[in-house]
Amino acid sequence: MTRPGPDRTTALVTTKAALREARAALPGTVALVPTMGALHDGHLALVARAREVADHVILSDFVNPLQFGPGEDYEAYPRDLDADLAAVDGLVDLVLAPSAEEMYPVLPPTVSVSAGRAGTLLEGAARPGHFDGVVTVVTKLLTLAAPDVAVFGRKDAQQLAILTRLVADLDLPVRIEPVEIQREPSGLARSSRNTYLSDAGRDRALVLSRTITAAREAAPSVGAVLGTLDDALASDEAEWAYALAVDPATLDPITPEHRGEALVVLAARVEGTRLLDAAVVSLTAP
Ligand code: PAF
Repeated sequence: MTRPGPDRTTALVTTKAALREARAALPGTVALVPTMGALHDGHLALVARAREVADHVILSDFVNPLQFGPGEDYEAYPRDLDADLAAVDGLVDLVLAPSAEEMYPVLPPTVSVSAGRAGTLLEGAARPGHFDGVVTVVTKLLTLAAPDVAVFGRKDAQQLAILTRLVADLDLPVRIEPVEIQREPSGLARSSRNTYLSDAGRDRALVLSRTITAAREAAPSVGAVLGTLDDALASDEAEWAYALAVDPATLDPITPEHRGEALVVLAARVEGTRLLDAAVVSLTAP
């Protein structure tokens, strides 16, 4: 990836009041890049796109407690604000890094946003309430930062689909800008959780990106794509949660009669870490 050179002064804000004040002082258009920190090249690709589509960039760096279930890795989730600030220094205008208390004076909040049925499927089936937590924090971030554009990666394909619905269904005045999945040279989709994997785990995790490549090559045949996913599920390289082709709008599994775009979504555990990968495929043949 070609990284843009630093060209602006980056300020850190930790309160909602300071964000509103700093945001009001930004002339022109603003792009928001919501993150939970532990920034890697995947996030820098989001920042690079944000810089292309807006005059100013706000990056939020907040591990959102509301999207973690009991027993999940909220406490263990990697946090290193100094490293994050160094990674985006001079590339973004503002970094918002509030405390959980600042974001949620009442936790859980009395009123929250629901991701609806789409939030109960796929990742939502394994992580009840996760997407309600995501749409609630993203709604708050959009309200606070008032961006013209919000930038999200395609790796969290279900999240992107739900946030696209959030903006459309609630008439939020922002445009969602998707960015392609960033991959390590091995093909592994970049993720903050990759830091949990050993070298052997990283090798085993490649079954996900191999499956994505196979599904892409099998398109435009619906039957061939579905066959590829069945083959992946039969392999024991990962502990599969699902390997599905779904309707991009409803997230329901497609049938062999489906024609048009489909979302290939994969989730598997490797060394106890849940990994995701995804691709959009165009299906025009049986
Ligand atoms: O994708 C993420 O990192 C998070 O789900 C998000 C969108 C920043 C909300 O906390």
